[in-house]
Amino acid sequence: MTSIKFKNKRLFYLDQTQLPLKEVWKECRNLKDGFKAIKLLEVRGAPLIGVFAAYCIAINLKQLSGKKEIFLSQLAESLRQLGSARPTAVNLFWALRRIKQAANKAKAKDVSFIRQVVLREACSIHKEDVLLCRRMADQGVGLIKKGDRILTHCNTGSLATSGEGTALAVIFAAAKKYRNHLLVYADETRPLLQGARLTAWELFKKKIPSKVICDNTASSLMAARGIDKVFLGADRIAANGDAANKIGTYGVAIAAKYHKIPFYVVAPFSTFDLSLRSGKEIPIEQRNPDEVRKIMNKIEVAPGEAKVYNPAFDVTPNELITAIVSDRGIIRPPYKKNIKKVIGTHPI
Ligand code: MRU
Repeated sequence: MTSIKFKNKRLFYLDQTQLPLKEVWKECRNLKDGFKAIKLLEVRGAPLIGVFAAYCIAINLKQLSGKKEIFLSQLAESLRQLGSARPTAVNLFWALRRIKQAANKAKAKDVSFIRQVVLREACSIHKEDVLLCRRMADQGVGLIKKGDRILTHCNTGSLATSGEGTALAVIFAAAKKYRNHLLVYADETRPLLQGARLTAWELFKKKIPSKVICDNTASSLMAARGIDKVFLGADRIAANGDAANKIGTYGVAIAAKYHKIPFYVVAPFSTFDLSLRSGKEIPIEQRNPDEVRKIMNKIEVAPGEAKVYNPAFDVTPNELITAIVSDRGIIRPPYKKNIKKVIGTHPI
């Protein structure tokens, strides 16, 4: 399964806001389309946002000036604009930085050469992302036993990356290994229901046994000894291992700790932000109040004038995380030391 396609220098994406009811593919023709797709969560999930943004910059280059100086300043402005689409997932900034560095290295050459270099860099970010997903699956699969009942939150599969996923890739690998002898509980993930709409859809397509639960069911299911492990993703991990992920993750982590259930975060090296000492420094996106007042932007469930607090992410402190599964290895506490050892001092 794939959620973006780059064909004949054209960029297409599956509009995730319409899933699972409709599978609608759209074309991203320019920066404005790309910004809107990311902002509205038509394209979402930390690694996928990075890959998509890199391609978006590359296709937009043909609309920039042919004069090098103007071209370079327009490119810088495009990078800045796209980087303002969403603030939390660091993969967006990581991918844009790679594009910037590639363009900088080529800046002595002519505009058409710089265009080629940027496009090549976007393609390699894409290819690498597919590979990183495979590596995370290989690293993490050994943590799952036959028959495990696994809880996940939000969506971390083929819709959140350009490969098999992060946490879901690990689960997919285990499902294959144990011929579906496991059970996945997908938190519905209010307010935008990435778990119910997207994770359930991916699991269903792969015929992996699964059940959707309301977010507020997880702790009682844990108390009833119905969950063996938690696997989920991250949007940004600080140098001390604090991890930002979809709102509700922190509550799951607290409940898991209380019930002595292992809590695993799965993320590629591009999700680490070692410039931040702790999760307190991670910028948390605040989103449109209507996402809470309405379901799927349609059915009103709160009065139109109700005030709303709608952070898209929360931060799970490192002491609640059993291990972080990265493409470069499984990282266990003490995180500050071991993240440095496994990821290095700089993620690029
Ligand atoms: O707001 P979203 O849907 O982009 O949030 C996505 C998540 O929080 C995922 O859990 C995260 O990106 C993990 S990685 C695949």
